[in-house]
Amino acid sequence: MQAGAKAHNGNGNGSLNGSRNGSPSGDPSTQELLDLIVEHASRPMEEAQALPAGYYTSEGLYELEVERIFKKDWLYVCRTDEVENPGDWYSAEIVGEPIMLVRGKDMQIRAMSRVCPHRFMDILKVERENGLDHGNKDSFVCPYHSWAFNTEGDLTGAPLMNRSTLFEREKDSYCLKNFAVEVWQGFVFVNMDPDAEPLGPRFAEMEEVLAPYRLDEWKVVERIDWPDSPVTWKLAMDNGRECYHHQGAHSESIEPLWPSHLVDADTTDSEYFYYQKMFVDPKGAIGEEDGHFIQPVVLPPLDGLTPYQRSHSLLVGLYPTMWFSPGPDVLLVAKWWPTGPQSHKFDLALCVHPSRLDHPDLEKVRAETKEWLLQIQEEDFRMVSGIQEMLGSDHARRGGALSHLERPMWTFQKYMAKRLAGANA
Ligand code: FES
Ligand SMILES: [Fe+2]
Repeated sequence: MQAGAKAHNGNGNGSLNGSRNGSPSGDPSTQELLDLIVEHASRPMEEAQALPAGYYTSEGLYELEVERIFKKDWLYVCRTDEVENPGDWYSAEIVGEPIMLVRGKDMQIRAMSRVCPHRFMDILKVERENGLDHGNKDSFVCPYHSWAFNTEGDLTGAPLMNRSTLFEREKDSYCLKNFAVEVWQGFVFVNMDPDAEPLGPRFAEMEEVLAPYRLDEWKVVERIDWPDSPVTWKLAMDNGRECYHHQGAHSESIEPLWPSHLVDADTTDSEYFYYQKMFVDPKGAIGEEDGHFIQPVVLPPLDGLTPYQRSHSLLVGLYPTMWFSPGPDVLLVAKWWPTGPQSHKFDLALCVHPSRLDHPDLEKVRAETKEWLLQIQEEDFRMVSGIQEMLGSDHARRGGALSHLERPMWTFQKYMAKRLAGANA
């Protein structure tokens, strides 16, 4: 079924146009989109097809994404070294839900709600007003009525509450709500679903490929935050997942280093992740060892990597919202979080191995890599914002065939089919 080609079928809830999501324009209903995702996800890769504009614009689908993905699945927040010491906090909003990661005095990383259990003030209101999204505190004191919480989220003080018998009865339950946390390869993930399955086992297939990079050791040396962008998270993420556009959108920046035609994307059918290998263009290589062209580096490569591992960078995506790219010398980490059906926030971290932290070129590398990443993101944003502007067209109702280099878009269809429609494709 091609949803874009289908007329309204009167299957809805009595709305005038008969569409379940009430769209007045002939757009597919949420159910039609779910059926289409499941159908696309069940095809072989050779038949894989991009989803229509309605997949990106449907508010009904977005509501399901919030409920079944962002409030149910593991979401990457930051690296462990960004909350390295007791009292370190890192704040974020997951689809409007204000949270913070806090390293406790017991060295455990916890995820907590920032909503005060008294009358709902943001525990980090003052810090947020000052533009801070991370810091260090001995305790968290609500700016409204001064209820205080320790780094584990327990209530430790509440002035002038001594006449409340209700408070006396309930005070042990007045903590900052905790969410599930899991650390994998130095990445901290949060899950708002208390019954979430563990995350790590999903990625067992990649352990061997990743082991030489010792990813849990790397440290963030730069984080770039972009302001809220008026582009749906799914468009931005689809773009981030495939290297097919190197030869188009990045023809003068990435393509000379990692050309599209040398990318190996044919690695996995998993609906939870992908990894691909971006091999250096022989013309851009700095040498050849054991028959492998060696990728240029900005810092000495990580000790112990073989010539083969120094011939490429990995691009590893974990659904739904992040990728990381370990190379011989630097590690890049990106995340996209929706801020609404048609907007998202993006940030990118540059990490280096601790053995390179005192390298004399580090500051220069940090500044130059930041410039390069800003340029790449500008190139990407031109593309995804350009597509966003086309989504209202009558001619964006049927997507085209996917290249073998767009494999992660196909495996992400499987993820969406499973999470949104409960279908195994
Ligand atoms: S709202 Fe936090 S102490 Fe009242
Ligand atoms: Fe790109």
